[in-house]
Amino acid sequence: MEHQYDRRKLEQVFDNLPEASPIADIDPFKGDIIAMVGALALDYLELDLEDTLLDIGTGRGRWAVAASPYCKKVIGIDISRRMLEDARINVASSGVKNVEFFRGSFEDPCEETDVFRQNVNKVVAIYSLHHLTDPMKKEAVSGLAEMLKRPGRIVIGDIMWFDDPSKHKDEWDDVYFEESETDHPASVSFMREVFEASGASEIEILQVHPLVGLISATFL
Ligand SMILES: C[S@@+](CC[C@H](N)C(=O)[O-])C[C@H]1O[C@@H](n2cnc3c(N)ncnc32)[C@H](O)[C@@H]1O
Repeated sequence: MEHQYDRRKLEQVFDNLPEASPIADIDPFKGDIIAMVGALALDYLELDLEDTLLDIGTGRGRWAVAASPYCKKVIGIDISRRMLEDARINVASSGVKNVEFFRGSFEDPCEETDVFRQNVNKVVAIYSLHHLTDPMKKEAVSGLAEMLKRPGRIVIGDIMWFDDPSKHKDEWDDVYFEESETDHPASVSFMREVFEASGASEIEILQVHPLVGLISATFL
């Protein structure tokens, strides 16, 4: 069944996420798929102390905080006010000073701050892009590519189809996929086309699971 994008529902889901959700821990060795792909994404970003990183769908800000010692500045944006509150608490308790959070989305990253003026040269999105429909993903990636300072890189770690997802139904829970109006993963071939159309010079794709992958796109 084809579901439509429902931002209000998405906000509700993340505003009411239980404390013990799988988006708190960054230890990839505990076996959680989001932590695994997130930790890999940090490596693929190849962060530099001159970099400004934009983390879209930052959630409780765990990757923003983890990345902060390796770059100049991190901006985390999210549609959920509750996630942003948690992210700010997380930053305060971590003691890091170069991370800021704002309300914003793939559709409108500049809702609260003009990220286009911040010299962002790295972008990361962990388990957030799949909440958009395919045409929205295309638009979002093209907008981000336009914003990105060169040389720059966008790294996505997310649910994506390397194979027919119905063949892996018994693993949907393991990768937190639900056939609903909040989840719209794309095929890997579509994602490649999206990055090619946005002018990426190099695209690397890594399969982490039959239903989860990482895309690293470099813009020169
Ligand atoms: C599964 S969580 C992942 C959070 C974080 N990246 C992590 O790995 O801990 C997905 C996040 O994406 C956010 N999100 C959903 N739709 C979004 C959109 N259209 N734009 C920006 N963020 C969105 C949600 O509010 C949520 O915080």
